[in-house]
Amino acid sequence: MDLGIKGRSAIVCGASAGLGRATATSLAREGVSVVIAARTPERLEQAAREIAAETGAQVRAVAADVTTDAGRAALLEACPAPDILVNNAGGPPPGDFRSWDRETWIKAIDANMLSAIFLIQATIDGMIERKFGRVVNITSHMVKQPAAILGLSNGARAGLTGFVGGLAREVARHNVTLNNVLPGQFDTDRLRSNHQRFAAASGGDVDAFRERQKSQIPARRFGDPSEFGDACAFLCGAKAGFITGQNILLDGGAFPGTM
Ligand SMILES: NC(=O)c1ccc[n+]([C@@H]2O[C@H](COP(=O)([O-])OP(=O)(O)OC[C@H]3O[C@@H](n4cnc5c(N)ncnc54)[C@H](OP(=O)(O)O)[C@@H]3O)[C@@H](O)[C@H]2O)c1
Repeated sequence: MDLGIKGRSAIVCGASAGLGRATATSLAREGVSVVIAARTPERLEQAAREIAAETGAQVRAVAADVTTDAGRAALLEACPAPDILVNNAGGPPPGDFRSWDRETWIKAIDANMLSAIFLIQATIDGMIERKFGRVVNITSHMVKQPAAILGLSNGARAGLTGFVGGLAREVARHNVTLNNVLPGQFDTDRLRSNHQRFAAASGGDVDAFRERQKSQIPARRFGDPSEFGDACAFLCGAKAGFITGQNILLDGGAFPGTM
């Protein structure tokens, strides 16, 4: 399917690895010029070279921490008027809420709520004027099915989810959509390091832990990041203009409800 976005421009945050990189690759494959951001320059530049070689699209790397004003400014300088914005940053660490002080909370809120809101604020009026805009926020299945150990993520992402729900209805008439995509367990660096941490905490073997995790997913496997990237690219497509304000769970059937 041609998504109808060839020649469009995109900012994809957190895109040197994992779900962000996969989303940038899927968009580039559609002929979108992408600006990708992450904090570690070498890995980011390598990702940009590899995505460009694989897709033939223009891919620019901007080393930036999206939680900072300076990082977001650098990104917007490279791409001041994106048609597509994909918000993503690392998830906060798991833990016990009793040990989280104000600074810990502010870090999580900066990464998983405010960085996305400020990038939306900086880009959405241009999208409205041009009568085309697609915003996708990468959040988490924890928004629907929260676990206490990931309370920092649950809290911050719920804030972003509420904000997006309101704004999406206000801008829909301009062909500007905002959606959140909620990953379940996708096989990325982050998932592997979380599994290592959880297995170590329970004194068990990481491979056995991962097999148990898979056995609890109806699809009996972890998601492939490319499946995630393709779903996000579809939401960024011209044909997805009637989908807005949604929280779309990609989890291999793990959420045990109908809605
Ligand atoms: N994978 C899953 O199964 C899963 C499930 C639920 C939720 N999630 C959430 O989905 C998001 C992506 O996960 P992932 O598995 O793709 O993670 P990942 O493999 O660790 O990749 C994260 C990417 O984001 C970049 N990044 C992190 N913090 C950043 C920042 N402040 N500014 C700019 N770039 C930043 C990283 O590069 P640098 O470190 O160099 O900046 C890297 O490119 C995370 O928020 C995660 O919590 C993932």
